[in-house]
Amino acid sequence: MWSGEFALLLLVLTSFGGSSSIPPHDEVAQMARYIVHACDWGSVATISTHPPLKGRPFSNTFSVSDGPLGKGSGNPYLYLTPLEISVQDMQTNPEISLAMSLAATDYCRKKKFDPQSPLCCRVILSGRIMKVNKAEIDFAKEALFSRHPAMSDWPSDHGWYFAKLNITNILVLDYFGGIKTVTLKEYYSVKPE
Ligand SMILES: *[C@@H]1O[C@H](CO)[C@@H](O)[C@H](O)[C@H]1NC(C)=O
Repeated sequence: MWSGEFALLLLVLTSFGGSSSIPPHDEVAQMARYIVHACDWGSVATISTHPPLKGRPFSNTFSVSDGPLGKGSGNPYLYLTPLEISVQDMQTNPEISLAMSLAATDYCRKKKFDPQSPLCCRVILSGRIMKVNKAEIDFAKEALFSRHPAMSDWPSDHGWYFAKLNITNILVLDYFGGIKTVTLKEYYSVKPE
């Protein structure tokens, strides 16, 4: 009897656990915001300024946060240093692409969705990286440091600064049938969960 109740409890916990319930795939703006909030890191592509790759696409990974858990803003914040190879590219050309996938969470693994399956939902954001202005620094810091506690110990002589992606284009792949686009208006109208 006891173990039956325990199994039932486990079943309830796993069916209602945050990571296994995602927005419906046709709620594309909601899906985009969900992915951006759920992922702690993403892949950032720049146009390389570094020989021998100068002029070629260059992808790298960065820690990202759009807000403390449950308080997502939709704005991807990053903590950057001019010493970093991709950040040096951004100084020449601030246009970047940021890809975030539920493969970075336990969702795809639990569902046994391959990272390349359209069911392993992802968002690709295109835009310009910019320094966060004074009024927004406190939020950017809380967003990043709450989700990446190690950041507070990163070497103080590296010139770290808070940056955000000023998004211009939002592309979502969350189901079969090809990529979908979301407008900025739709994206920022979504209420955080
Ligand atoms: C973000 O980009 C848009 C369009 O490219 C521009 O109009 C806007 O001023 C930018 N936002 C900030 C805060 O710089």
